[in-house]
Amino acid sequence: MAITTSYRTRSGAVPLRSFKTKGRHSGIAGMGVYAPEKVVSNFDLEKLMDTSDKWITERTGIRTRHIAEPGTTTLELATKAARAALDSAGITANDLDMILVGTSSPDGPFPSIACRIQDELDAPGAVAWDMLAACTSFVYGLATADSFIATERADNVLVIGAEVLSRMLDYSNRGTAVIFGDGAGAAVVRPAPEGAGFLSWCLGSDGRGYLQVTCGNKELGAYAAKDPRPIIEMEGPDVFKFAVDIFIRQANEVCNEAGISMEDIDLWVPHQANFRIIDAAARRIGLPLDRVAINIDEYGNTSSASIPLALEEAIRKGRVKTGDNVLLAGFGSGLTWGATLLKWV
Ligand code: UT7
Repeated sequence: MAITTSYRTRSGAVPLRSFKTKGRHSGIAGMGVYAPEKVVSNFDLEKLMDTSDKWITERTGIRTRHIAEPGTTTLELATKAARAALDSAGITANDLDMILVGTSSPDGPFPSIACRIQDELDAPGAVAWDMLAACTSFVYGLATADSFIATERADNVLVIGAEVLSRMLDYSNRGTAVIFGDGAGAAVVRPAPEGAGFLSWCLGSDGRGYLQVTCGNKELGAYAAKDPRPIIEMEGPDVFKFAVDIFIRQANEVCNEAGISMEDIDLWVPHQANFRIIDAAARRIGLPLDRVAINIDEYGNTSSASIPLALEEAIRKGRVKTGDNVLLAGFGSGLTWGATLLKWV
């Protein structure tokens, strides 16, 4: 592992941890996604709050978002994505060694969604748990899967990002309510040939930035404060600056570790938080937008589901082929961030 550079957030310097994959390599063998049928447009939101399609489109790139009907569980979305991922990888639930679910919007404190999915899928051989790293959860899940496969402690790992964030929105707060959407994405991670699959990682957290994106009582936390309905709040412009900067630094780190130049990235799949964040970072990385997966216009920000939703769409549209260098990169509340460089198998 290398702590190559020190990265300065608003709260101070933090090390950037990056490392090459060691041991047995792993890669993504299949993917599945699911989004609720109901689509809410910017024009629909104009009727609910003081906003406009023009503002939302120009400031975020979002035109619609999928929103779950009341009573829909995160479990339902996650299970549908999980089944599709197993089909796509050509394995059964019985083959699974681990189920990891990244979510910031579980249906309750416990049991975990991962254990509920284990039951739904009937995957008796899997160890299952949820991971909370907000919008970075899916990348942390992939990194965990890669580590277990590298050390030969697992062969088939199901990694899921699933959210019903609409439960946590206050439709009188136009600063956040227009941004988020619901959805789920899943990937089956399996051993890959030497030199393929995940080549390198950059993972990090800076807890001193915990106030920048929160849900529920900022100091006590929602449970301790007996908050009946925790609501997402964020310091948008600060997060925006952090996001552009960390996207660029992570791209640099994982490319260095993998020994490839940033120009050799065939597809960048960023967390879909804001089109302007992606565009600003892509320009500074030197990547034309035709090498960036962007579907924020349809889904909005779906937190842990955004990277798998964008990656699966890119695969489905034939934008990813064997041997391509694919960069996945996320950031989110915590603060947290994570990226990986994959040679597609
Ligand atoms: O994945 C989780 C991490 N979160 C993020 O990545 C979010 C990163 N930040 C952002 O994407 C942007 O900061 C936002 C989209 C959240 C906000 O865009 P902005 O360009 O930074 O706007 P702002 O917060 O600086 O607000 C500018 C103006 C304000 O009005 P005044 O004070 O200038 O009169 C806001 O009240 O825009 C106003 N505004 C809106 N107007 C119409 C904020 N939200 C809206 C809205 N419709 N929905």
